[in-house]
Amino acid sequence: MTKYQIRGGNPLHGTIQISGAKNAAVAIIPAALLVDGACRIENVPQISDVTLILQILRELGADVRTINRTTVEVDCSHIRNRQVPYELARRIRASYYLVGALLSRFGWAEVPLPGGCDLGGRPIDQHIKGFVAMGAEVDVRSGLICARVPGGARLSGGQVYLDMVSVGATMNIMLAATLAQGMTIIENAAKEPHIVDLANFLNSMGADIRGAGTDVIKIHGVTRLRGGTYSIIPDQIEAGTYMAAVAAAGGEVLIKNVIPKHLDCITAKLAEMGVDIEEQDDALLLRREGPLTRVNVKTMPYPGFPTDMQPQIAAVLCVARGTSVLTEGVWDNRYRYVDEFRRMGAQIQVDGKVAVIEGVDHLTGAPIHACDLRAGAAMIIAGLAAQGLTEIDGVYHIERGYETIVEKLAAVGADIRTIHVPGEEDQSQAG
Ligand code: EPU
Repeated sequence: MTKYQIRGGNPLHGTIQISGAKNAAVAIIPAALLVDGACRIENVPQISDVTLILQILRELGADVRTINRTTVEVDCSHIRNRQVPYELARRIRASYYLVGALLSRFGWAEVPLPGGCDLGGRPIDQHIKGFVAMGAEVDVRSGLICARVPGGARLSGGQVYLDMVSVGATMNIMLAATLAQGMTIIENAAKEPHIVDLANFLNSMGADIRGAGTDVIKIHGVTRLRGGTYSIIPDQIEAGTYMAAVAAAGGEVLIKNVIPKHLDCITAKLAEMGVDIEEQDDALLLRREGPLTRVNVKTMPYPGFPTDMQPQIAAVLCVARGTSVLTEGVWDNRYRYVDEFRRMGAQIQVDGKVAVIEGVDHLTGAPIHACDLRAGAAMIIAGLAAQGLTEIDGVYHIERGYETIVEKLAAVGADIRTIHVPGEEDQSQAG
């Protein structure tokens, strides 16, 4: 079994380079299925979710070439196999993007229901509503999402009003609509930076998508996309996680390769807590010396405070002065990590979607379990701020979404290392 061992108490000093955005990469790579020709994709993060999605494309017959550490070339011109392997698809949430992409290109898709972090119910009814509005017949049976356009025709443009703001449904409908006949309009669309990134990728290959980043997206279907080169945006949540780490551990760190605008909501909260943040062109300089002050935080779709930063900000609030109220506005059950924090001495009460956190003078190191990706990252932050030794297992969750997190933190002075414990098995990757 692989674990992370952290001896807390070191302030962080130096520079951290942010990688490409996970949630953009896992949509852009399947989007290559729509393209006739080779897509060279740059700034690809080296994380296990990306490895998995590339492996799925290889299984489908795509030609996938690694150009260098952060660049891959994906050519799906000669795809023949359309059966997505269950064992791979169930391990990753983003496998649902294969439905939109395959349906758009071939008018037919059968994809195993996706996996992903356990954050409460994760329905896909809005994705399906979108495909149906474009003329597909969709049903879920034997663990598969089966979608087809009757008569083997192309999808046709449709109008979709999303009942709730959904990142996945917005991107999946965009993928499906790209090669559909006519215009598709998505209303109440999500506005996350990765939505804009996917639209920019598709447009750079010849698609006609307007309005991404607003709540109405119009997609004029085209007959063909051609190959090209595209660079993925920096990861908003990875940057936010290191910002939270500096807040909790103290010190002075330059966080490089970011789009500061994407981080405004996180910057504002940390500044309110007493972190000094200086914005530069593509970097943020964070400094924290004095005590942290309590704040209230409510997560919501972009440009609100991201749900994917909720556990990390909770870790910081555990060591802030006073009582903070944290409200989860996106997922039903994103507080499964709280019991682990309590082992470290955190004072947290949860009632439904609200957590009340009373700051303590210090946390104490403990053996804890990373129950999902962002909770795992938050446990690292708690460990950095704690007195004594923290040992985290279940780190495969963290490695799904953070490139070389141990090395990046060790390089700025954190006492963190990876250990391999013989004789104990990692649980199978739930994804
Ligand atoms: N929802 C529905 N029906 C749908 C789709 C969503 O009811 O058809 C609900 C969900 O249950 C949830 C809300 O709508 O309450 C928002 O879900 P959304 O569809 O936006 O989430 P997602 O696309 O499944 C992506 C990210 C998540 C991130 C959310 C919200 C990927 C692969 N995953 O999930 O990222 O939390 O958007 O921003 O892009 C993570 O990276 O740690 C992570 C979990």
